[in-house]
Amino acid sequence: MRPVRLMKVFVTRRIPTEGSAALARAADCEVEQWDSDEPIPSKDLERGVAGAHGLLCLLSDRIDKKLLDAAGANLKVISTMSVGVDHLALDEIKKRGIRVGYTPDVLTDATAELAVSLLLTTCRRLPEAIEEVKNGGWTSWKPLWMCGYGLTQSTVGIIGLGRIGQAIARCLKPFGVQRLLYTGRQPRPQEAEEFQAEFVSTQQLAAESDFIVVACSLTPATRGLCNKDFFQQMKKTAVFVNISRGEVVDQDDLYQALASGQIAAAGLDVTTPEPLPTNHPLLTLKNCVILPHIGSATHRTRNTMSLLAANNLLAGLRGEPMPSELKL
Ligand code: NDP
Ligand code: DGY
Repeated sequence: MRPVRLMKVFVTRRIPTEGSAALARAADCEVEQWDSDEPIPSKDLERGVAGAHGLLCLLSDRIDKKLLDAAGANLKVISTMSVGVDHLALDEIKKRGIRVGYTPDVLTDATAELAVSLLLTTCRRLPEAIEEVKNGGWTSWKPLWMCGYGLTQSTVGIIGLGRIGQAIARCLKPFGVQRLLYTGRQPRPQEAEEFQAEFVSTQQLAAESDFIVVACSLTPATRGLCNKDFFQQMKKTAVFVNISRGEVVDQDDLYQALASGQIAAAGLDVTTPEPLPTNHPLLTLKNCVILPHIGSATHRTRNTMSLLAANNLLAGLRGEPMPSELKL
């Protein structure tokens, strides 16, 4: 009997059990994994991917021309355990006829939930308040102390009314939000109808919103979108939240806006770089709440993402339709 030729799969990190079990069950694949919770060094990634037919990667792995060259001509499928694909050199991948899988939808609710948590944490100043309890700053109930901004009767602006943007709008509406504004490349009247959301320019969104939530994808057009001009247009009482990608924001400009009182506060789940160095100026500000990119971090969501990423990879390798393929 002729030996069956196994397809080589390289996985760049430890992933949740549902995903790794699905790969382990695949009798037609030989799976090699970077067996760590920490990122794989680029040299090891280049070595690991050499000759692979399939690559399962994370948003922290940069899949560029150099890496694709290191992989070689066998590579047929890249499956990323993320909905964001800004770490993939898509033009180069397309040129080589490689299929791409990603994980939309399954993380939408978890990410929207985190965005709303971050918004409330920031606008009601929860980290500062918790600190005051611990450090003895809580001396009495004081009418003017620890006041923040509330959502009732407010105007919320969402940059990117995509899957996550819509889920955020859905979560926020019951808080008594009065007006919902959004921006994007073009109006989305069907999706906007549910929230009576108004399509406006980025300038109008900046100027009229009490709360701004960034939920767009990172593209050449959105890189640095929230910069000095943007923050200058915002109200002094407005709160800015970013759950998309750090590069959408010019962090030096954000620092100036927060430190000078140009805007009230900011909550960031994503930064540039990640992790943010512990001596970064943004971390010295009381009105800036920073989380370590945990939008999709629930046990169930991460397990589901890993399973979808594994199933995308296996379907692609077998020449079948992928559950979630990014059309290039
Ligand atoms: P979608 O593709 O559904 O939404 C992307 C949105 O980006 C669309 O509404 C699109 O609007 C908007 N967009 C694209 N270009 C522009 C532009 N030039 N100006 C303004 N808006 C623009 O993706 P998801 O909602 O599923 O995910 C969005 C992003 O969230 C991901 O790409 C990822 O970077 C980030 N994310 C972060 C997580 C975290 O852990 N913090 C978790 C999951 C995702 P239109 O098409 O109308 O132009
Ligand atoms: C993504 O999927 O793009 C997020 O940033 C992490 O879940």
